[in-house]
Amino acid sequence: MSAINLEKIIEGVKSLTREVGSYQLEKFNQKLNITQKSSYLDLVSEVDKNSEKKIVTWIEKNFPKHSILAEESGTSDKESKYKWVIDPLDGTTNYIHGFPIFAISIALMKNKEPVLGVIYIPYLNEMYWAVKDKGAYLNEKEIKVNDKSNLKESLLVTGFPYDLNEDEFNNIDIFNKLLYKTRGIRRIGSAAYDLACVASGKLDAFWELKLSPWDVKAGVILVKESGGNVIETNYHGNYLIVAGSEKLTNSLYKEIEKVHN
Ligand code: IPD
Ligand code: CA
Ligand code: CA
Repeated sequence: MSAINLEKIIEGVKSLTREVGSYQLEKFNQKLNITQKSSYLDLVSEVDKNSEKKIVTWIEKNFPKHSILAEESGTSDKESKYKWVIDPLDGTTNYIHGFPIFAISIALMKNKEPVLGVIYIPYLNEMYWAVKDKGAYLNEKEIKVNDKSNLKESLLVTGFPYDLNEDEFNNIDIFNKLLYKTRGIRRIGSAAYDLACVASGKLDAFWELKLSPWDVKAGVILVKESGGNVIETNYHGNYLIVAGSEKLTNSLYKEIEKVHN
């Protein structure tokens, strides 16, 4: 396959997310068709599904040889080193309840590493994007992670898994402990937006358990390209992500490690 031009592709992805974002805003606060997935906490609407259809159709048309991993429709594996990872609507609970923070998150992976990421927040018209080795941007402005090293001076953000009623690894013990060690912890309801906030210095660090690739892969490249550090690891059998400055992620990870020992 001939080399692909990431800077050209990202322009296409940005227009695509703007188009899908307009559709999401049109349907926002309208009556929706909603169904439950794993529990009463885990919902999906027609807007999630239609948004994903628009994204997948665009990818299949422009990159028919690439693999795709999309939250609502699953995987289409091709023999390619490229894979698109898509969360068509991150923050579905917010969206359904009329809370206006929700995101479209799209990453392109090359051999398991994100090389391009876009997170678009339709309600705020904020376009976060990054290309490997080319930096990270909010609209046209370059963004940087805050260079914090001290948890006590840091404002953090996290989220909770949908199976919080069924499993002790539901982040509540970790949250309780960290609340006393930081300046505060926000729970916004969109992991993609949380990561975009860390990449752009609005918040200092993020951690969460049990997220899926579509929740985080665009955010991972955004944080790395804005000078930050991302720890993706296994925590008692669960995926854990920690993102922020290198020093802060190391201290945060040490605190998290102590909670269930
Ligand atoms: C959810 C959001 C939320 C996080 C959940 C995710 P969804 O994604 O990112 O912030 O706490 O764990 O599943 O279901 O709205 O796409
Ligand atoms: Ca999600
Ligand atoms: Ca979603």
